[in-house]
Amino acid sequence: MRHLRLFVCAVPLVLFSVGCDEKLSDLTGPTPNLSPTFSSIQKDIFSTQDSSGRLACSSCHLPGGAAAGTGLFLTDAATSYAALVGRGSRLKPGETLVIPGDPDNSYLVRKLEGGPNINGLRMPRTTGPFLTEGQMLVLRRWIKEGAANN
Ligand code: HEC
Repeated sequence: MRHLRLFVCAVPLVLFSVGCDEKLSDLTGPTPNLSPTFSSIQKDIFSTQDSSGRLACSSCHLPGGAAAGTGLFLTDAATSYAALVGRGSRLKPGETLVIPGDPDNSYLVRKLEGGPNINGLRMPRTTGPFLTEGQMLVLRRWIKEGAANN
Protein backbone atom coordinates (compact mmCIF):
# COMPACT_ATOMS: atom_id res chain seq x y z
CA MET A 1 0.00 0.00 0.00
CA ARG A 2 2.85 2.35 0.89
CA HIS A 3 4.45 1.68 -2.48
CA LEU A 4 1.23 2.45 -4.24
CA ARG A 5 0.88 5.76 -2.40
CA LEU A 6 4.44 6.73 -3.23
CA PHE A 7 3.81 5.98 -6.87
CA VAL A 8 0.56 7.90 -7.00
CA CYS A 9 2.19 10.88 -5.29
CA ALA A 10 5.36 10.81 -7.35
CA VAL A 11 3.63 11.50 -10.65
CA PRO A 12 1.94 14.77 -9.64
CA LEU A 13 5.11 15.80 -7.80
CA VAL A 14 7.11 15.53 -10.99
CA LEU A 15 4.55 17.63 -12.81
CA PHE A 16 4.65 19.92 -9.81
CA SER A 17 0.91 20.13 -9.42
CA VAL A 18 1.53 18.84 -5.93
CA GLY A 19 -1.17 16.40 -4.98
CA CYS A 20 -1.94 13.77 -2.34
CA ASP A 21 -1.05 14.86 1.16
CA GLU A 22 2.08 16.76 0.11
CA LYS A 23 1.81 20.50 0.38
CA LEU A 24 4.08 22.82 -1.59
CA SER A 25 5.41 24.11 1.73
CA ASP A 26 6.63 20.60 2.64
CA LEU A 27 8.75 20.62 -0.49
CA THR A 28 10.28 24.03 -0.16
CA GLY A 29 11.49 23.37 3.39
CA PRO A 30 13.36 26.36 4.78
CA THR A 31 11.31 28.80 2.65
CA PRO A 32 7.72 27.57 3.12
CA ASN A 33 6.19 30.46 1.16
CA LEU A 34 8.36 30.03 -1.92
CA SER A 35 6.32 29.80 -5.14
CA PRO A 36 7.33 29.74 -8.82
CA THR A 37 7.02 33.48 -9.45
CA PHE A 38 9.93 35.86 -9.82
CA SER A 39 8.82 38.09 -6.95
CA SER A 40 8.75 35.08 -4.62
CA ILE A 41 12.15 33.85 -5.78
CA GLN A 42 13.58 37.32 -5.22
CA LYS A 43 12.07 37.60 -1.76
CA ASP A 44 12.74 34.10 -0.42
CA ILE A 45 15.98 33.18 -2.20
CA PHE A 46 17.89 36.17 -3.53
CA SER A 47 17.17 38.68 -0.76
CA THR A 48 16.81 36.50 2.31
CA GLN A 49 18.94 34.23 4.40
CA ASP A 50 16.80 31.18 5.19
CA SER A 51 16.39 28.97 8.24
CA SER A 52 18.92 26.41 6.90
CA GLY A 53 21.56 29.12 7.36
CA ARG A 54 21.97 29.65 3.61
CA LEU A 55 23.26 33.12 2.86
CA ALA A 56 21.17 35.64 0.96
CA CYS A 57 22.55 36.01 -2.57
CA SER A 58 22.25 39.78 -2.25
CA SER A 59 24.76 39.79 0.61
CA CYS A 60 27.49 39.31 -2.03
CA HIS A 61 25.72 40.17 -5.29
CA LEU A 62 25.53 43.93 -4.82
CA PRO A 63 27.66 46.84 -6.01
CA GLY A 64 30.88 46.78 -3.99
CA GLY A 65 30.13 43.26 -2.68
CA ALA A 66 32.16 40.07 -3.01
CA ALA A 67 30.50 39.27 -6.35
CA ALA A 68 30.69 42.79 -7.77
CA GLY A 69 32.98 41.58 -10.57
CA THR A 70 30.19 39.43 -11.98
CA GLY A 71 27.98 42.45 -12.63
CA LEU A 72 25.16 40.20 -11.42
CA PHE A 73 23.34 42.29 -8.85
CA LEU A 74 20.49 40.49 -7.08
CA THR A 75 19.39 43.32 -4.79
CA ASP A 76 15.77 43.79 -5.93
CA ALA A 77 13.41 42.17 -8.42
CA ALA A 78 13.81 44.72 -11.24
CA THR A 79 17.62 44.67 -11.02
CA SER A 80 17.83 40.88 -10.74
CA TYR A 81 15.42 40.21 -13.59
CA ALA A 82 17.30 42.55 -15.94
CA ALA A 83 20.62 40.92 -15.00
CA LEU A 84 19.43 37.31 -15.38
CA VAL A 85 16.87 36.69 -18.08
CA GLY A 86 18.47 36.32 -21.50
CA ARG A 87 21.74 37.76 -20.15
CA GLY A 88 25.15 36.23 -20.74
CA SER A 89 27.52 35.06 -18.02
CA ARG A 90 30.54 37.31 -17.60
CA LEU A 91 32.69 34.54 -16.24
CA LYS A 92 31.75 31.87 -18.76
CA PRO A 93 31.26 33.53 -22.15
CA GLY A 94 28.73 31.75 -24.33
CA GLU A 95 26.48 30.78 -21.41
CA THR A 96 23.13 32.43 -20.69
CA LEU A 97 22.07 32.85 -17.07
CA VAL A 98 18.34 32.24 -17.58
CA ILE A 99 16.98 30.80 -20.83
CA PRO A 100 13.15 30.99 -20.67
CA GLY A 101 11.69 27.47 -21.01
CA ASP A 102 15.05 25.72 -20.60
CA PRO A 103 16.12 25.25 -16.97
CA ASP A 104 18.70 22.54 -17.77
CA ASN A 105 20.75 24.87 -19.93
CA SER A 106 20.26 27.98 -17.82
CA TYR A 107 23.65 28.77 -16.30
CA LEU A 108 22.03 30.08 -13.09
CA VAL A 109 20.57 26.61 -12.42
CA ARG A 110 23.91 24.91 -13.07
CA LYS A 111 25.75 27.31 -10.76
CA LEU A 112 23.22 26.51 -8.03
CA GLU A 113 23.35 22.73 -8.59
CA GLY A 114 27.14 22.61 -8.92
CA GLY A 115 27.33 21.68 -12.59
CA PRO A 116 27.70 20.46 -15.21
CA ASN A 117 30.43 22.61 -16.78
CA ILE A 118 30.58 25.65 -14.56
CA ASN A 119 33.43 28.07 -14.05
CA GLY A 120 34.02 29.12 -10.46
CA LEU A 121 32.21 27.59 -7.50
CA ARG A 122 28.74 26.32 -6.73
CA MET A 123 26.46 29.06 -5.35
CA PRO A 124 25.99 30.33 -2.76
CA ARG A 125 29.75 30.48 -2.26
CA THR A 126 31.60 28.76 -0.78
CA THR A 127 30.50 25.74 1.20
CA GLY A 128 26.72 26.11 1.34
CA PRO A 129 24.20 25.40 2.69
CA PHE A 130 23.06 25.19 -0.91
CA LEU A 131 19.49 25.40 -2.16
CA THR A 132 17.40 22.33 -1.36
CA GLU A 133 15.92 20.05 -3.99
CA GLY A 134 12.50 21.60 -3.38
CA GLN A 135 13.79 25.13 -3.76
CA MET A 136 15.47 24.10 -7.02
CA LEU A 137 12.21 22.52 -8.26
CA VAL A 138 10.44 25.84 -7.77
CA LEU A 139 13.18 27.82 -9.50
CA ARG A 140 13.28 25.32 -12.37
CA ARG A 141 9.51 25.48 -12.69
CA TRP A 142 9.56 29.29 -12.97
CA ILE A 143 12.10 29.03 -15.82
CA LYS A 144 10.24 26.15 -17.49
CA GLU A 145 7.05 28.21 -17.53
CA GLY A 146 8.78 31.00 -19.44
CA ALA A 147 10.68 32.97 -16.75
CA ALA A 148 8.01 35.66 -16.56
CA ASN A 149 8.59 38.91 -14.70
CA ASN A 150 5.77 38.08 -12.31
C1 HEC B 1 29.62 34.71 -0.20
C2 HEC B 1 29.37 35.49 -1.41
C3 HEC B 1 28.35 34.97 -2.41
C4 HEC B 1 27.07 34.52 -2.16
C5 HEC B 1 26.35 34.42 -0.83
C6 HEC B 1 26.51 34.18 -3.46
N1 HEC B 1 27.41 34.41 -4.44
FE1 HEC B 1 27.13 34.07 -6.45
N2 HEC B 1 29.04 34.62 -6.81
C7 HEC B 1 29.96 35.07 -5.87
C8 HEC B 1 31.25 35.28 -6.50
C9 HEC B 1 32.52 35.79 -5.81
C10 HEC B 1 31.10 34.90 -7.86
C11 HEC B 1 32.19 34.85 -8.98
C12 HEC B 1 33.09 33.62 -8.80
C13 HEC B 1 32.40 32.27 -9.02
O1 HEC B 1 31.60 32.14 -9.97
O2 HEC B 1 32.68 31.35 -8.25
C14 HEC B 1 29.70 34.50 -8.03
C15 HEC B 1 29.14 34.08 -9.23
C16 HEC B 1 27.79 33.78 -9.42
C17 HEC B 1 27.19 33.45 -10.70
C18 HEC B 1 27.89 33.38 -12.04
C19 HEC B 1 27.89 34.74 -12.70
C20 HEC B 1 28.53 34.72 -14.06
O3 HEC B 1 28.47 35.77 -14.73
O4 HEC B 1 29.06 33.68 -14.48
C21 HEC B 1 25.85 33.23 -10.46
C22 HEC B 1 24.80 32.85 -11.49
C23 HEC B 1 25.63 33.41 -9.04
N3 HEC B 1 26.83 33.75 -8.45
C24 HEC B 1 24.40 33.28 -8.42
C25 HEC B 1 24.24 33.34 -7.04
C26 HEC B 1 22.97 33.09 -6.39
C27 HEC B 1 21.65 32.83 -7.11
C28 HEC B 1 23.21 33.16 -5.05
C29 HEC B 1 22.27 32.88 -3.91
C30 HEC B 1 21.59 31.59 -3.91
C31 HEC B 1 24.62 33.48 -4.87
N4 HEC B 1 25.20 33.57 -6.10
C32 HEC B 1 25.22 33.69 -3.63
C33 HEC B 1 29.71 35.28 -4.53
C34 HEC B 1 28.55 34.89 -3.86
